Formats: sequence, C-alpha cells, structure tokens
Amino acid sequence: MLKCLETRNFPLSELKLLASKRSAGKTMRFRGKDGPVAELTAESFAGVDIALFSAGGSVSREFAPAVKAAGAVMVDNSSAFRMDADVPLVVPEINPGEAKKHKGIIANPNCSTIIAAVPLWPLHRKHRIVRLIASTYQAASGAGWAAMEELKQATRAALDGKPFQQEIIPHPYAFNLFSHNSKVDLATLYNEEETKLMKETRKIFGDTELRISATCVRVPVLRAHSEALTIEFERPVSPEEVTAILSDAPGVKIVDDPARNYFPMPLDASEQDDVLVGRIRTDVSDPSGRTIAMFVAGDQLLKGAALNAVQIAELLV
Ligand SMILES: NC(=O)c1ccc[n+]([C@@H]2O[C@H](COP(=O)([O-])OP(=O)(O)OC[C@H]3O[C@@H](n4cnc5c(N)ncnc54)[C@H](OP(=O)(O)O)[C@@H]3O)[C@@H](O)[C@H]2O)c1
Repeated sequence: MLKCLETRNFPLSELKLLASKRSAGKTMRFRGKDGPVAELTAESFAGVDIALFSAGGSVSREFAPAVKAAGAVMVDNSSAFRMDADVPLVVPEINPGEAKKHKGIIANPNCSTIIAAVPLWPLHRKHRIVRLIASTYQAASGAGWAAMEELKQATRAALDGKPFQQEIIPHPYAFNLFSHNSKVDLATLYNEEETKLMKETRKIFGDTELRISATCVRVPVLRAHSEALTIEFERPVSPEEVTAILSDAPGVKIVDDPARNYFPMPLDASEQDDVLVGRIRTDVSDPSGRTIAMFVAGDQLLKGAALNAVQIAELLV
C-alpha cells in the first residue's frame, strides 16, 4: 500500500501507520522518510480522512464504528462488509460511480474476483456474459506474508529431505497443490473463496443473473494468482474480437503468443499493475461459437489488494 501511495503520488498531507501491538515502535519508509508505526486503537482516527484497512475481517468490524465516528471513510480489504447492501464493492475500472454512494465504508473485493473481473467487464459490457466457469491457481501471498514465508521454508526442507511442520497452510505445500484453504460450505460444497468469486462478481457487475461456478486451488507459487476462465456470451464472439476489446481495456495487458507458447505467468504478473490475458481461443466444446476460453494472471497483492484500495481512495479525493 505504501509503495502504491508513493508511486501514484497520492495527495496526502499526513500518513499514520497503524498495526497491532506487535509492530508498535517499528518504522516504515515513505517518501524517503522513516515513519513510526503505532498500535491501532479507537482513538487512532482523529483528523483522518481516509483509513485503508488490511488487517482481517474481525479488526475491520471492531474498528469500523471508530472510523465512522471520526468522520473518516474506511476502504476495507477484508471480506467483512463486501456483501452488505449499503457498502459499495468497487473496482475503479468497472464501477467507480459506486464509490460516491458510500456511507462510511467502501469494500475492496476479493483478490481472485478482481483479477477475473478486470478483463471480464469490458467483454460483459459489449456482449453480455451469461455464464462463467473460473478455475484458479492461487499463490501463497493470497494467504498473507506468513504463508509466503512458510512456502519458502517448506520447499527448503523438502529439498533437504527434512521434516517440516506447517502452521499457516493446512496441507503439505512444497511441490503440491490443494483445494483452497477456506471453509467448505457443506450445503453447497463450494469453499468460501469460490463463493466470494461468484457472489462478488455479480455484485460488482450489477448483474444478478450472471451464472458462475468456480474451483479455487492454491498452488506453490509465491506471488500472483492465475485463472482459467471459460466465458459463455449471449451471442457468438470471435477470439479476434475479444483480443481487440481487451487491447484497449484499462488495467489489462495482452500476453498471447501461441507461436512461442508464451502466455500469462505469475512470475511475469508479479509487481505489475495490469492483469495479463492470453490463450484467448474459441471453446471447441460449444459448437454455437458463444464460448471463449482464456487464461489470466494478476498480482493479487497489487491489483487484487493494495493497488485497488489506493485507486478507490483516489476516487475520494
Ligand atoms: N493477501 C492478499 O492477496 C489479499 C488480497 C485481498 C484482500 N486481502 C485481505 O487483506 C487482509 C490482510 O491480509 P494480508 O494478506 O495482508 O495479511 P498479512 O500479510 O498477515 O498482514 C496482516 C496485517 O494486519 C495487521 N494486524 C493484524 N492484527 C491486527 C490488529 N489487531 N490491529 C492492527 N493491525 C493488525 C498485521 O500487523 P502486525 O504485523 O502488527 O501483526 C499486518 O500488518 C485480510 O482481510 C485479507 O483477507 C488479502
């Protein structure tokens, strides 16, 4: 977030750095100066205009009243308020106008949702998507900094033939992949990540009819999520037209070189603002020509989290 505020030259006169008690007293560098990190308390928001929250749902829920009472606007990265009817769920390339309707809280969508939504929206606007099947390949960073460290340590231990006790990620992570580590709803058999992608996409697009099914998988990649998207449109659409629409789309970069077999990869997407899109082709399993398959990769720490939050804050100033 600090990097995004800095590189985008966000207009702020004062920055307050807040974290848990564990981090109080540390310093963080912003615009060439070290600033102190203080413990987050209900008194932290006096004189604050915008509060960027990224400490988990329970922290957001606990401190939302204090943010509102201080007259500040909370931009929240957690899932706490995303589906609340009076909380806008905003991706600035898609629904910037929603941000203005806030009542003190604006929610930042789930990371896999944003990465799929950025390239899907310009296609939906032009040709209306009726059905989406999304399969994700999600990085360790989506589970936080500690999960990235754990993947490194687990991989080192596996290479050294040593046992390793994981604490953050519930399954062996080195040289493995597993169904997303969020709770599975025993009624629907979808996990929370999949449910977020399905519900949040419909809310962001303002289209309750959009049919979506997702399978979310965690892969041993450090940073940036990838997704295979199978998109059924209302009418036939060619891959060339999809490429043409996405070539002009904000926040999207086409990486689609079949001759070189070069397509979006998480390493190429890491530390990039744009969502990379490639493998754009007609889904041959649908003879009507209405279905397109494509593969995307995006840095979920940037566009899937910090960058999107800072872009929302930009809509407020
Ligand atoms: N990672 C992603 O790709 C991603 C994407 C979208 C949304 N999100 C959401 O963003 C939130 C944070 O995720 P993350 O991946 O950034 O986690 P993280 O790397 O574990 O960072 C969590 C941060 O929250 C702070 N924190 C924890 N408890 C706190 C408390 N009681 N008071 C104040 N600060 C506290 C931590 O500070 P200390 O160091 O002091 O503990 C740390 O800076 C989650 O709700 C997550 O779902 C994450």
